[in-house]
Amino acid sequence: MRRLPRLFTASPVFMALVVGGGSSLHAGESTQTLRDAAGERLLVGTAIMSHHLDDPPHAALIAEQFHCITAGNEMKPDALQRVQGQFTFDAADKIVAFAEAHGQTVIGHTLLWHHQAPRWMFEDEQGQPLPREQALENLRTHIHTVVGHFKGRVKGWDVVNEAIDDSEPYLRDTPALRAIGYDYVIKAFQFAHEADPDAELYYNDYNIERDYKRDKALRMIRELREAGVRLDAIGVQGHWLLGSPSLDEIDRGISAFLKQGISVMVTEMDVDPLPRNDAGADLSATERAGQNPYLDTFPDEMHHRLATRYDELFRLLLREPGVTRITLWGTTDAHSWLNNWPVRGRTNHALLFDRDFKPKPAFHAARNALHDANSPATSP
Ligand code: XIL
Repeated sequence: MRRLPRLFTASPVFMALVVGGGSSLHAGESTQTLRDAAGERLLVGTAIMSHHLDDPPHAALIAEQFHCITAGNEMKPDALQRVQGQFTFDAADKIVAFAEAHGQTVIGHTLLWHHQAPRWMFEDEQGQPLPREQALENLRTHIHTVVGHFKGRVKGWDVVNEAIDDSEPYLRDTPALRAIGYDYVIKAFQFAHEADPDAELYYNDYNIERDYKRDKALRMIRELREAGVRLDAIGVQGHWLLGSPSLDEIDRGISAFLKQGISVMVTEMDVDPLPRNDAGADLSATERAGQNPYLDTFPDEMHHRLATRYDELFRLLLREPGVTRITLWGTTDAHSWLNNWPVRGRTNHALLFDRDFKPKPAFHAARNALHDANSPATSP
């Protein structure tokens, strides 16, 4: 309880979440970290930006709480090869070195995405698609160089991010698709495997667990398998809201993937408690105006709702042995991308630690669920 603000420790609701309510934790154990609570049951991770490591309390929290780290931006194509042929690895290298120094593994995010990607890779200066062979050569060079650079130091790669369209029958209309054709996803996986045969390879996307997109994700799994490429897990981003999607819908999605014999990783989890539309996590789905109701304080009632949602989500995910990682998309509320998406400049409260690096009731909910899953309660 040492680090909980007094407001929380005093509330019976939070006491129930922290020490009771189905949890087997005693008050004396409550400083246990997420990493320790999870043990070997699954990996718990966070996304960071390299400059977070210059802030000692932030770096300490990252080192202490998580098994693995995903680079929030530093391994995206525009960060690594903004100008053709000029690779810039410094920021990503700093993240990898930090992780290694703290016994953490690194997840690579991402080799191919239509956002945060340089145009030259698939388009000419007029914005027209490059000839297929040239686009493939650019993709091959990028993936071989990047995966080769981190060979043996990155455990697994989000090879392709968000290739599935929200409304079209299957793939999203992107520069890579226009230049290369429908097999561009398969090619990306082949190139990644060539560069590091030991690296795990993932397909990563938002809302693929949901009813409207799930069949397309199942098709992706099928086609990658038919092509004979390595595919270790399907990455469910997990940018969820307080009330949506329902636990049933998430369960249906995850069970459908697990039934294919593939592992599921929740790769970018957060729970947005601010009002916004429910259209997924498309970076271009910005909203011009939005309410910012918790600028000064996040009320007790909202802490409780957030903690309850984390509790339910973690317990759902932990029921399935095939769910092998949960990565939060950030550590503290101050550094969440949801402060700027879909509305710029809001004050969001979606993560497990507050702006003073203090664990929130949501932290205790997640940590207790991990603890319980890792050491099932035995009768006295
Ligand atoms: C976000 C980063 O966190 C932000 O800093 C950046 O401005 C935009 O991208 N889905 C993804 C992530 O796959 O790469 C995105 O990360 C969040 C949505």
